[in-house]
Amino acid sequence: MDQAVALASEVGIEGLTIGALAARLGLSKSGLFAHFGSRESLQLATLKRAQDLFHARVFRPALAAQRGLPRLRALFQNWFEWLDRSPRPGGCVILAATYEFDHRPGPIRDLLLKSQKELRGGIAKAVRMAIDAGHLAAETDPWQLTFELFGIVLAAHHERHMLDDLRAGERGAKAFERLISTCRRQPALTADPKAGDPGFQHDRSLNGKPGFPPLPDRYPAELTASASLGLNHSITIRPIRPEDADLTSEFAANLSVETRYNRFLGGGFALTPEWLRRLTCIDFSRDMALIATVTFGEEETQIGVARYAMLEDGASCEFAVTVADQWHGCGIGEMLMRHLIAPARKAGLKTMIGDVLATNVAMLGLARKLGFAVSAHPEGAELKRVTLDLAAGKEQPSRRETATA
Ligand SMILES: CC(C)(COP(=O)(O)OP(=O)(O)OC[C@H]1O[C@@H](n2cnc3c(N)ncnc32)[C@H](O)[C@@H]1OP(=O)(O)O)[C@@H](O)C(=O)NCCC(=O)NCCS
Repeated sequence: MDQAVALASEVGIEGLTIGALAARLGLSKSGLFAHFGSRESLQLATLKRAQDLFHARVFRPALAAQRGLPRLRALFQNWFEWLDRSPRPGGCVILAATYEFDHRPGPIRDLLLKSQKELRGGIAKAVRMAIDAGHLAAETDPWQLTFELFGIVLAAHHERHMLDDLRAGERGAKAFERLISTCRRQPALTADPKAGDPGFQHDRSLNGKPGFPPLPDRYPAELTASASLGLNHSITIRPIRPEDADLTSEFAANLSVETRYNRFLGGGFALTPEWLRRLTCIDFSRDMALIATVTFGEEETQIGVARYAMLEDGASCEFAVTVADQWHGCGIGEMLMRHLIAPARKAGLKTMIGDVLATNVAMLGLARKLGFAVSAHPEGAELKRVTLDLAAGKEQPSRRETATA
């Protein structure tokens, strides 16, 4: 049967005949015919064998991974490896057969349809588990994500076998991560991947709109602080609130191209209302977002933000910090980070990490000053990974804050 699968990969299920398989195996055609009874039975048996192989190499090993996102990721990693490393010249027999038989009624199409539906169901189930485990946002639509993930597999298969791209599996894995990052429960630390344009307009339709969600039960009001930093303005640091959508939108709209580039690691972003909601409606039991504001007359203006999101392991978190351009160098970034590190430590998190462009001298300087270790990044020399051992020490207020206290 393995030889039948290999032959089908070369000639397609339609080209698979008892005669061709007999010739390949050096067996008598009549003997094979007696075994299968018909060409169609051979084709069906071959597809079933291909499905068994797929399950044994892709689905079953993924079950060993932790439920939730790790399992979903393992499933797709196995799948990309299966596509990449397949010794079969024509690639996946099943995928090829779905093209051959997509409009041809009969037992082969019925078998393919059933197995494809089961496969989609299996992926959707893995997605649902990732939602239940809190790894993906509750509003993630399992069927939509299944559709998009399957699209990545199709693209990788096509690139590998039609264009002979040996990095198709690697590209597929990257696309997987990018897509998943849009569905993470707290994706506020990454750029909005739906947006390609780094510039955007402040969405004034959000101004003064009623109906923002209420403050979360666990809103940590005790983290609110004020400082003067020796400046003429009093600066307030406080956990972000749903009704800060306008402040946040205005703040982001005024960032320079360079600041946006540094913050989003070269990626683009656009503040859609949905994205804005994610930035401002925080589940403080796992994540944190602190904004720094100044008030001129009646008007409060946001001048910085620092946030962390707990990672899957529940013991570490990823941070990001941004200060409005005209406030750079005034101590705001340092103050925000110190105020962010304290609750992370209190929440029992062990490590805080961040990805920083290797050219981002200011952030690397700030990270070093705060005691972060700076190391090479697994994704390449363009990035640095900064890591703070939260268990190691207690955060002191910044010198500037102490001086003005
Ligand atoms: C990185 C950033 C947050 C720093 O904020 P900031 O308010 O300007 O920094 P601070 O004034 O608090 O500086 C604190 C320390 O950071 C370091 N630092 C800040 N700017 C620096 C620069 N241009 N060069 C070298 N070190 C710098 C210094 O160690 C400084 O301490 P010092 O004043 O005692 O020398 C700010 O530049 C920014 O918003 N950059 C764009 C967004 C970004 O890159 N985010 C990081 C990605 S996660």
